[in-house]
Amino acid sequence: MDEILRLINIRKWFPVQKSFLERLLAKEKLFVKAVDGVSLTVWRGETLALVGESGCGKTTLGRLIVRLIDPTSGRIIFNGMDITDLRGEELRRLRRKMQIIFQDPYASLNPRMPIGEQVAHPLKIHGLAQGSELRDIVMKTLEQVGLTPPEKFYNVYPRALSGGQRQRVAIARAIVLKPELVVADEPVSMIDVSLRASILDLMLMLKQEFNLTYIFITHDLAVARYIADRIAVMYLGKIVEHGPSELVFENPLHPYTKALLTSIPVPRPLKEPKRVELKGEVPNPINPPLGCRFHPRCPIAGEICRREEPELREAENDHYVACFYVT
Ligand SMILES: Nc1ncnc2c1ncn2[C@@H]1O[C@H](COP(=O)(O)OP(=O)(O)OP(=O)(O)O)[C@@H](O)[C@H]1O
Ligand SMILES: [Mg+2]
Repeated sequence: MDEILRLINIRKWFPVQKSFLERLLAKEKLFVKAVDGVSLTVWRGETLALVGESGCGKTTLGRLIVRLIDPTSGRIIFNGMDITDLRGEELRRLRRKMQIIFQDPYASLNPRMPIGEQVAHPLKIHGLAQGSELRDIVMKTLEQVGLTPPEKFYNVYPRALSGGQRQRVAIARAIVLKPELVVADEPVSMIDVSLRASILDLMLMLKQEFNLTYIFITHDLAVARYIADRIAVMYLGKIVEHGPSELVFENPLHPYTKALLTSIPVPRPLKEPKRVELKGEVPNPINPPLGCRFHPRCPIAGEICRREEPELREAENDHYVACFYVT
């Protein structure tokens, strides 16, 4: 298999903003450890779903991958090249190959620009086309994302479109540059439930057509199951389990994954029918629990989990888990 992206021990710690007095009195600087040591390989052509509860660091990881924000430490390797420190012109050129689609199709489009221009914009910035050629590419792309006939949509402003149509524009804007990797951050969570499947199917179709690799961020496991080849489960800034989609869904290993899965209706019965309830709230990412971060909520935590942090290890073929009690 051909590797497109590799994350090596990536961290993003956001400094906590404090008042002057608090800063004077504080013994140490505080950080929100949004992403706290993630290592992961993404294979070319696959859809990797990044799942986990709100606040576990999914969006931060997505933004780190496309270099919208800089990591506190760790390396990002894209197509075999270390892109962690790219700046200026080199970073701009990289952006053609990696695109991000955001959750909110209302906030991500410019309300004062007709959608044809919005889709043309990335091509203009990268100097890839102009004049009638530019217009032709935009028309074709609008058609590819199902905004047909494209002439009808070219001069329309976002306010005239539905949420689903807006997300199609956002997708058009992402694929118009023919990227290799697309990070989609909850692309259907703000869209009417009745339209979600059509957007997911569009994304799957475009993936085939353009040979894309997707990192698909979602808190919705049913969506993850529908779209993903592989699943990575995040908890408090770390990946606790990852593997091929069918293995993770049929045979979840981490107690957290089991709890997540029993909280959603799944089409096929799981091997483990016993319900696992999640106790309590997600702990504060400023001071994550010592040892295994999940131990305060874990139904099977033992002494070692309070003291030591489990590493991700391969429990079965290509299926990784960070838990002392998984055999
Ligand atoms: N720019 C920032 N400054 C400070 N803290 C931040 C910043 N961005 C995110 N955080 C914090 O980092 C943690 C992870 O946030 P993130 O948005 O990555 O989570 P998420 O998994 O995408 O959640 P959701 O499912 O709600 O979108 C949260 O505690 C959040 O408050
Ligand atoms: Mg998010």
